[in-house]
Amino acid sequence: MINRIGVLTGGGDCPGLNAVIRAVVKTAINEYGWDVLGIEDGFEGLIQPGKVRPLGLDDVRGILARGGTILGTTNRANPFAYEVSVDGEMRVFDVSDDVVRHAQILGLDALVVIGGDGSLRITHELSQKGLKAVGVPKTIDNDLSETNVTFGFDTAVNTAVGALDRLHTTAESHHRALILEVMGRDAGWIALQAGIAGDADVILIPEIPYDLMHVVEKVVARSRSGVKYSIIVVAEGARPVGGAAVYQERREVGAERRLGGIGAALAEQLRAQNNAVEVRVTVLGHLQRGGSPTAFDRLLATRFGAMAVRLIADGRLGYMVALRDEQIVSVPIAAAVAAQKLVPLDSDILQTARALGICLG
Ligand code: F6P
Repeated sequence: MINRIGVLTGGGDCPGLNAVIRAVVKTAINEYGWDVLGIEDGFEGLIQPGKVRPLGLDDVRGILARGGTILGTTNRANPFAYEVSVDGEMRVFDVSDDVVRHAQILGLDALVVIGGDGSLRITHELSQKGLKAVGVPKTIDNDLSETNVTFGFDTAVNTAVGALDRLHTTAESHHRALILEVMGRDAGWIALQAGIAGDADVILIPEIPYDLMHVVEKVVARSRSGVKYSIIVVAEGARPVGGAAVYQERREVGAERRLGGIGAALAEQLRAQNNAVEVRVTVLGHLQRGGSPTAFDRLLATRFGAMAVRLIADGRLGYMVALRDEQIVSVPIAAAVAAQKLVPLDSDILQTARALGICLG
């Protein structure tokens, strides 16, 4: 017997989160007559007091097309390793039991967790401690297993393609090699799909460590053939053969180490090899995570949200919604977080890129 459910958004935001929240609230109220509580700032809302509010139909009106999340989010609130400053010193606590208890005190019969691999892994571990939850996969990186695609990815790819279209015209005018650094921590889906759709000459992804000389050869060969500009897309997690990924120096409290800077590093490497080439770098960064979701992402997010509520009604707790062959299905959260979905090295999309003459490093 379900009376009340909760919903939270965890981890990095992405376009479509509000569309999921809206679908969850509407389906829970219209179809089942349940109460819905919104939990603010991911699992932080079940750790700290005063971060829960009722969500009614009025609260979700007009948010379908809005980027971000009306509930707020954080990628720094892992209840199993919660960092707190005690007398100026950072200490790590396991507050997972408190989270499960807090959900019970709130009277939540189930919780919808909208998150990427980190938040869903936490959800899986909390489920084993008694939290009743279902998952909705989100991430612009598209690196979650068991679903054909996550919402947010399509919007991010479109943003990157828009940037590439603009870079083309200025690269051609100035006869330059322009590098676009896009997100993609472990998986190169954004770089690869945006690179092909945005007519890049070089695409570097984390799955294929690059040989700098192959990149130089590509740029020089284009120049020799009379095409005096090149477009290079590099995923933030890409690295040279035998080298390491580039991280930002400072780590924030409770957060993973942040990637960033491979574009600039690659530019330096290119200049060192061939100073005749003028190189410039654009880091697309969080532009990929912001703004209004595409129609594809709005629809996918809405279908995911409605299905998540149906999973609760059917008692399929511990499951995540997923897209498979045009159908929304459910899969165990445990399976989805067991392995990341990286670009398969034998995939047709890589073959296509090679066939088009794109250098993959
Ligand atoms: O997981 C999505 C992602 O966009 C990664 O590609 C990126 O490394 C990370 O989030 C950055 O997160 P933030 O800047 O919010 O810490």
